[in-house]
Parts: sequence; structure tokens; C-alpha cells
Amino acid sequence: MLVAAPALPIWAQVGPKRLAHIQRVAALLESWGAAMSLPPAEHERWLRAGWLHDSIKDAPTGELRSLAPECDWDEELLHGPAVANKLLAEGERDPELVMAVRWHSVGCVGWRSTGKALYCADYLEPGRSFDREGRAALAERFPKEPDAVFREVVMRRVEWTERSGWPLLEPTRELWNSLR
Ligand SMILES: [Fe+2]
Repeated sequence: MLVAAPALPIWAQVGPKRLAHIQRVAALLESWGAAMSLPPAEHERWLRAGWLHDSIKDAPTGELRSLAPECDWDEELLHGPAVANKLLAEGERDPELVMAVRWHSVGCVGWRSTGKALYCADYLEPGRSFDREGRAALAERFPKEPDAVFREVVMRRVEWTERSGWPLLEPTRELWNSLR
């Protein structure tokens, strides 16, 4: 069954590279949802999450901070909460969608299918240059084994964070502990 094709909101602030990334994430979510025969409402939620998640990532840091005043995270991580708050201010009423977008850079133990799929698609989309083969294999596996792939992606992202010397934020630690 066809689902409605979402697009960027009018308040989006994205450059051409970001737009291309967003399109690849949405395309992956589209293909996964089709392969999994998701109910149309859920499939549409996955696609909206893909289109929205980075939709103001190229906004000035000051604007992101003012949209997410509750957040003292590094500026790289502010766009998720900023988009989530913007959506709520615009009248969005789907808590699963807002939760998926809010936590997509960090991880969240309370996620349902949308948050998990977005987190995986953001990492597995084919435009990223590292480990192309390994990530393509995980992307292909996702429709059959979404939970196993999600766990693998969380593990890889936690390992990368630790190797890079970034602090592991509490929501990320909680998510990882829930999957071990
Ligand atoms: Fe992204």
C-alpha cells in the first residue's frame, strides 16, 4: 500500500549535503517499511521522522540553543531536541514521532519502532564513507532482524563515542545497558 510522501517543513534550514543525507535516510526507511509490510500509519511515521530529524541542523547554534533551552549538550547534539520542541510548538501531536526525533543523536531506552528505525537508518544510510560493506549488510538485514541490527548499531555508536573520547551521555548509557 502506498503511504503519503512527506517532505521538509517550511521552517527547515538545511544545506544541499544535509538534504541529500535526509533523502537517503528517508529512502532507507521507505524501503525497510515496504519490506516489513508496515501498517501505513507506522510507515508514514517512519518517513516523517526521516525527513524531520535533521531539518534544522544547519541553523545557527544560538537559534538551536534557544529552541532547546533545557539542553546543556554539545552543540552537535542540539538539533534533535530543537526540532522536537519546534514540532510541539507547531502543534505536532504524535509522541512517538517527537520522541524519535528528540533523541536520535543520543539514543533513548523508551523508543518504539520509529525511534529505533530512525537511529539505525541515520547510521546505516549509504552516503557515510566508513565501513560501507559492513553497514550495507546491516541495512539489508534490518527488515528481517530489526532488534538485532538496532543492538549492533547502538553498540557500534557507543564504541565509537568511547574511542573518540566523547563522554557517554546518561540516556545513551541507559539504552546500552538495557540491551546488554
Ligand atoms: Fe541524520
